[in-house]
Amino acid sequence: MMTLSKDISLSELLELPQSAAASSLSELQNLIDDERSRCMKVVGLQVNLFSEAQADDVRVRFTGKKSPLQDWLKALRNYPADERKDAGAKINQLKSFLETEIENFVVKCRLFAEEKKLADERIDLTLPRPELRLGSRHPVSLAVQQLLEPLKRLGFTVIDGPELERDFYNFEALNIPSDHPAREMQDTFFVASEWVLRTHTSSVQAHAMMERGVPLRVACAGFTYRNELDLTHVPTFRQIECLVIDKGITLAHMRSTLDAFFAEVFGRPVKLRLRSSYFPFTEPSAEIDVQCQQCFGSGCRSCKHTGWLEMGGCGLVNTRVLERCGVDPQVYSGFAFGMGVDRIAMSKFGIADLRSLFEGDVLLSRQLALR
Ligand code: PHE
Repeated sequence: MMTLSKDISLSELLELPQSAAASSLSELQNLIDDERSRCMKVVGLQVNLFSEAQADDVRVRFTGKKSPLQDWLKALRNYPADERKDAGAKINQLKSFLETEIENFVVKCRLFAEEKKLADERIDLTLPRPELRLGSRHPVSLAVQQLLEPLKRLGFTVIDGPELERDFYNFEALNIPSDHPAREMQDTFFVASEWVLRTHTSSVQAHAMMERGVPLRVACAGFTYRNELDLTHVPTFRQIECLVIDKGITLAHMRSTLDAFFAEVFGRPVKLRLRSSYFPFTEPSAEIDVQCQQCFGSGCRSCKHTGWLEMGGCGLVNTRVLERCGVDPQVYSGFAFGMGVDRIAMSKFGIADLRSLFEGDVLLSRQLALR
């Protein structure tokens, strides 16, 4: 048994008193005072004298099932009615005193034990150090960076927009009123009335026109959200968006910009195909297909044997959108295109399965960063 000082040991300190029974209120008070000072004596000792198990013994001694405290609480009902209230008050006071003191004491002992353990741990400085590895960007972040660079060279200003968006910028301003069926294709997370997680980066188009005015040549990349989850769709993905507004802008400008953009992205001219389509905010509208860079058109698993990969949408900015954003369609026209970055990353880096982008595989990121 640990010796606390020359003439007293912990077991003596933790011995239960001979008898805890009190025959009167004043005797109860004396016993309570004794118990209180015994407790003070123990918790006043240096915590380094106690192991965690011994600290627990202290707790059991003062507040456990066999402690005088519990005896007194049990005996309360034997008091005559006129004394019971007084006795109860005294015992409960002791109870909260003991509980607080012991709790503090146990915590202090535990902290001390932890610190001691850390201090005792020895580090062997002669061991070879583990290999240090630099982290790398995620393939989709790499792709974002590599997509924005050529756009900057083409004269686009890179801007940012909020992910938490007003219904107005995400839908209304883009000619998608609340009863429009296109809303169903882009179901999202409604955060509060009028606030949504943006379903596309096209919301930045409206911000740009209204806040920057025209003429305009801007690009933006960022997270977008949709309420969908299956083998080929995830609820959070990234898009990249471009908008040009100026006098006399035509489809020819859009096509040549897309050709120049994709040639830079893939480091060589690639075949593009514009397929007629529909978006409420562009007119005419088209889907942008890029020739599959795995099989160059002959058909493979990545392109589902079509030879083409759908990258996103584009079109001339709908005159209604121009009007809603304060731009005079008699004077100005423009084009916009938007794409999913994950798709481009897959095609650019030769990744066959969309899901591998979200599995947190550092090998994948590291391998791409080295290229
Ligand atoms: N915002 C559209 C989408 O998310 C893409 C698009 C952008 C279409 C710009 C036309 C013009 O699918």
